[in-house]
Amino acid sequence: MELQFEQVAKNYKDKKVLKGISLTMGTGVYGLLGPNGAGKTTMIRILADVLRPGKGRVLYNGRDIHAMGDEYRAKIGYLPQDVSFYGDFTGKDYLEYSAALKGMENSMARKRIEELAYVVGLQNDLNRKCAAYSGGMQRRLGIAQALLDNPEILILDEPTSGLDPYERIKFRNIISAYAKDRLVLLSTHIVSDVEHIATQIMMMEYGVIQYTLTSAEYIKKMDGCVWLVKMPAQQLVEYQNQAVISNVIAKDGHMEVRVIDESKPAREAVQAVPTLEDAYLYIFNYLPGKERR
Ligand SMILES: Nc1ncnc2c1ncn2[C@@H]1O[C@H](COP(=O)(O)OP(=O)(O)OP(=O)(O)O)[C@@H](O)[C@H]1O
Ligand SMILES: [Mg+2]
Repeated sequence: MELQFEQVAKNYKDKKVLKGISLTMGTGVYGLLGPNGAGKTTMIRILADVLRPGKGRVLYNGRDIHAMGDEYRAKIGYLPQDVSFYGDFTGKDYLEYSAALKGMENSMARKRIEELAYVVGLQNDLNRKCAAYSGGMQRRLGIAQALLDNPEILILDEPTSGLDPYERIKFRNIISAYAKDRLVLLSTHIVSDVEHIATQIMMMEYGVIQYTLTSAEYIKKMDGCVWLVKMPAQQLVEYQNQAVISNVIAKDGHMEVRVIDESKPAREAVQAVPTLEDAYLYIFNYLPGKERR
C-alpha cells in the first residue's frame, strides 16, 4: 500500500498554510512533529479527505483519494484534533453510533467495542456519559473510535494530548503493534510519543516538511552539538535569552544546563549524548523571543 502527497498546497485567504507538500508513505508509523500553527492539522485533514487541497492531490495506490470517495473512507480511521462530546451519549452509545456510521454489522461491532474498551482502558466507563469523561478519557474513546473497523490507514491528530504517562506508554504499544501491516500517521508535540515507534519522523514548520528521517538519523545529525554547562541559577535567566536550552537540572547547588550549539558554548562545557528532543529543539530553534512568522 502506498499513500502519496503530490504537490499539496493550501491557502487560507492569502496565508500559505501548506506550501506544496510531496511525500510517499508505505506501511509503518509516521510521526508528524512541529510547533503550533505548522500546518499539521491541515495536512491531516486533507489526508482524511475532510478538507480539499487548493492545489495538488493525495493518491492511494496511484488513485486520487477524493475521487475514490467512500471506497477510500472505508479504509481509514480518523481521530480529529478536537472532538466534542455532547448530550446523553454514553461511551458505548458513541462507539455503537460510530460503528453504525462505518457500516459495521451489529454483533461484530459489539464484540469489537468490548475488545477495544479493554485496549484503551475504558472497560469500566463505557456506560457513563462521555460528556462527563476527563479529557484523557475522551481522547482514549476517540482512539477506540478510530480503531473500530481495523482500518488500513489510521490518522491520529494529537492522540496523546491529555494522556497521563501510563496511558501514553500503553498508547505507544497499541500503535506499534497495530502498524505491523498498516499505515499510522500521528501528529504530536511530544517527541517521546514517536521517538521509538516511528518508522519515519516528519518535522514540519511554516507549511513545509523540513525533514523526513528516522529517529537515529536525527540523532546522528546532532553529534557534537549537545553540551552540558554548569552555572549558578541567577545566571540562567540571562543565559536562556541567548542559547537554545533543551533541559535544566538542579544539581549540588548549581544548575546543569543542556545547551544545543554547533560550537562549544563555554570553556568548561562537556559534550552530551544527543536525543531526538535535542534535534527537535535544534531544527525549530527554540530561542526565547524567536520571531514566529
Ligand atoms: N479554517 C481556517 N481558517 C483560517 N486559517 C486557518 C484555518 N485553519 C487553520 N488555519 C491556519 O493555518 C495554520 C496552520 O494551522 P494547523 O491547525 O494546520 O496547524 P497545526 O500544526 O495543527 O498546529 P497545532 O500544533 O496548534 O495543532 C495556522 O496559522 C492556522 O491559524
Ligand atoms: Mg493541529
